[in-house]
Amino acid sequence: MYRKFIKPLLFSLSIERAHRIVILFLRVVGLIPGGRWLLHKCYAVEHPALEREVFGLRFPNPVGLAAGFDRNGEACRELATLGFGFIEIGTVTPQPQSGNPRPRVFRLPKDRAIVQRIGLANRGLAATIRHLRRPHDGVIVGCNIGKNTTTPPEQAPADYLKVFRNLYQYADYFTVNINCDNACRESAAYASSHILKILEPLFDFRRGQNQYRPIMLKVSPDMPDEVVDRVTDILLETPLDGIVATNGTNCRDGLQTSRMSLEKIGSGRISGAPLTRRAVEIVRRIHTRSGGTYPIIGVGGLMTPDDVRAMLDAGADLVQLYTGYIYEGPRLVGDICRALIADEQQRLQEAAKAAAAEQQRLQEIAKAAAEQPAKPTSDPAVVVAETPVTAEDPATRPTSEPAVEKPAKAAEPTAEPAAAEKAANIPESSDSGLPTTDPGAEMTSARSEPAPHESGEQA
Ligand SMILES: Cc1cc2nc3c(=O)[nH]c(=O)nc-3n(C[C@H](O)[C@H](O)[C@H](O)COP(=O)(O)O)c2cc1C
Repeated sequence: MYRKFIKPLLFSLSIERAHRIVILFLRVVGLIPGGRWLLHKCYAVEHPALEREVFGLRFPNPVGLAAGFDRNGEACRELATLGFGFIEIGTVTPQPQSGNPRPRVFRLPKDRAIVQRIGLANRGLAATIRHLRRPHDGVIVGCNIGKNTTTPPEQAPADYLKVFRNLYQYADYFTVNINCDNACRESAAYASSHILKILEPLFDFRRGQNQYRPIMLKVSPDMPDEVVDRVTDILLETPLDGIVATNGTNCRDGLQTSRMSLEKIGSGRISGAPLTRRAVEIVRRIHTRSGGTYPIIGVGGLMTPDDVRAMLDAGADLVQLYTGYIYEGPRLVGDICRALIADEQQRLQEAAKAAAAEQQRLQEIAKAAAEQPAKPTSDPAVVVAETPVTAEDPATRPTSEPAVEKPAKAAEPTAEPAAAEKAANIPESSDSGLPTTDPGAEMTSARSEPAPHESGEQA
């Protein structure tokens, strides 16, 4: 339906107009009784195997909507009914700003990419508060915060703090967007001192609050590796909770779109398929350097379930989509979720198979031991003298004894056949039902626990 009818229609409009229509459509559906229920029924996939606990929040699935789609927090509830596990709104700046002149967003269909130089256009803090005041039905909302383009860099920390403190009670986590608008230089944005000047007032404000809000830092894919490492060290050395990697790239290498078309489009960040490899690489680097203990949200060029698998394998705890969603449509989230359920199903089946094989091996050993004839002891006195058998020394017990012990050991993995049973219960899609047991506990990896620092502050 999306590919055949809706996509050609939307792609015939300018990307910003198409985007506006989608947001308006979702808001209207949200007003119709049963509208959100219907969308949820059509697109959302629910399953305990998808649940993730990351920085103290329980996500219904790890697939979120990236910043820039719902810039003013207008349609979080409606977007969540399309199956997203969380929605990141923004970038929100203190004052409304109109951004760069239009046209400023372009499709590159040959590359399955988008170029944008929107310049952080948004309706500002006050409008966002108005939108977020409406109940959002337990949807996890992250808020991406930035500074106004006209704010000079030395006053940037005050802009970030203003948005942070005013939205603190309305968002579940925050992402600090230090990526440049067109008013700043990239190298200056990634200087550790500059980043710390922005982050420290946020940490100070959070210390005085009853509720803990995780703070993430969003980074550019154009950082050289040593800068990625430097930014990761900020994560290790401060109460920063995690990293969102990555934003769009300024790099134009390897594109299929003609040089002439690119020159006509002009400057802007590219997102979508050309970004996949670098985004995954950066996530892997951050994950390795931070010892896999800090939350990472992987974003950039996730166009298929396989891209998401690669991102999760690289160390991301959660992922976000933007351009992939534009090109593939609303089924993408469900496809990804179903692929992740299938992976979990396979993992459980393999674990169950391995456990069954181990059980069989132990049973065979026990059987062989039981069948082994007792050692001929013509002169028991001599044998006793050579190898004294004592109750304290199990290694020297008569060979018949392990036949009693081994089955007990073999019984250990019986938890895994239960896993096999669970695997067999995992349905093809969420709509078909829930497993009889709660695999949620198994899905919560030690790595996805909230960062240990400042745990005292957690709500
Ligand atoms: C039209 C558009 C607007 C965006 N606006 C923002 C923004 O305001 N703040 C932000 O942090 N990222 C913004 N992004 C970047 C995305 O959140 C994401 O990091 C990037 O597009 C890479 O993901 P993707 O390849 O899945 O699109 C925007 C991206 C696009 C395409």
